[in-house]
Amino acid sequence: MLEKIHTYLSEVDKFGITNHQELEKFRLHFLAKKGVITELFDAFKTLPSDQKKIVGQELNKLKQAAEEKFKHAQTTLENLNHQQHEKVDVSLPDIPDTTGSIHPLHITQQRIIEIFERIGFNLSEGPEIEDDWHNFTALNFPPNHPARDMQDTFFIEKNPDIALRTHTSSVQIQVLEKQSPPVRTLALGRVYRNEAISARSNCFFHQIEGFYIDQQVSFKDLKQTLYYFAKELLGKETQIRLRPSYFPFTEPSAEMDVSCNLCSGKGCNVCKYTGWLEIAGSGMIHPNVLRNCKIDSDRFSGFAFGMGIERITMMLYQIHDLRLFVENDIRFLRQFKSF
Ligand code: PHE
Repeated sequence: MLEKIHTYLSEVDKFGITNHQELEKFRLHFLAKKGVITELFDAFKTLPSDQKKIVGQELNKLKQAAEEKFKHAQTTLENLNHQQHEKVDVSLPDIPDTTGSIHPLHITQQRIIEIFERIGFNLSEGPEIEDDWHNFTALNFPPNHPARDMQDTFFIEKNPDIALRTHTSSVQIQVLEKQSPPVRTLALGRVYRNEAISARSNCFFHQIEGFYIDQQVSFKDLKQTLYYFAKELLGKETQIRLRPSYFPFTEPSAEMDVSCNLCSGKGCNVCKYTGWLEIAGSGMIHPNVLRNCKIDSDRFSGFAFGMGIERITMMLYQIHDLRLFVENDIRFLRQFKSF
């Protein structure tokens, strides 16, 4: 038996391990449950006790030698593996620049906020899930009034009082319930309409609303504010025109057009040869709206305006399809880098 042990000892010593297959071969031969060392230990049990001491010592030596060799080879192979992985392959193509870009709607929104902040407007917020009072009734839409049809939205069957807001004008009511005039603020965010998706419309879009309430606010303040805004956004040469319009919550009401910045008002296919582009609804806040918010409409007056951020962005960048804003096509989005 001693002889056998010594032969195995020199076998362990000579066994070449240069890869994982050889390592496994070594393990199976010497260390596994059915390997030679276990076999020797089994035979050892049957030895007469006077031989056990010396054979036992040699057997343990063999076991230790095999285990040490195995561990050593294992760590060497692992280290080798790591080094190979870490090698830099200079012939590989560069990792592309993955810096994101700013969404065009966000760019427009920030530009508009900045323009109005310069003349003292702050920012306000309101919920997208609204009730009838804030979206319609308090804004002077009488129940069953046809103006409600122009802003059809999504209702909840179980509770028809809850709806997705159709415009940011609902924030006028939210703000005026909590603050008393003077108020000069902007509200922006997503609004919803019951419309199918197409190049020109979608079931949701974004609006910016502005309103100013104080003593002696007049139509001329509205007109001057809109004029200032148009020139800041589109350039000094920009002209505006106000056309009479109708909204239940403003009286008088006006639609604001700006001179087409592409053809300088001469007429082109963007402005459909009119020289003008419609960009906002506006007007003097109806006294009923102020009264609904418990504001003394004899002392205070105000103006409001609202515009679609998509529409303005399409005009600024000559984008012809609304769907591009929501498709998340990186080839489109990447073209807009900064403000
Ligand atoms: N809320 C109106 C709309 O969505 C726009 C508007 C806002 C008109 C404020 C007048 C004053 O069409």
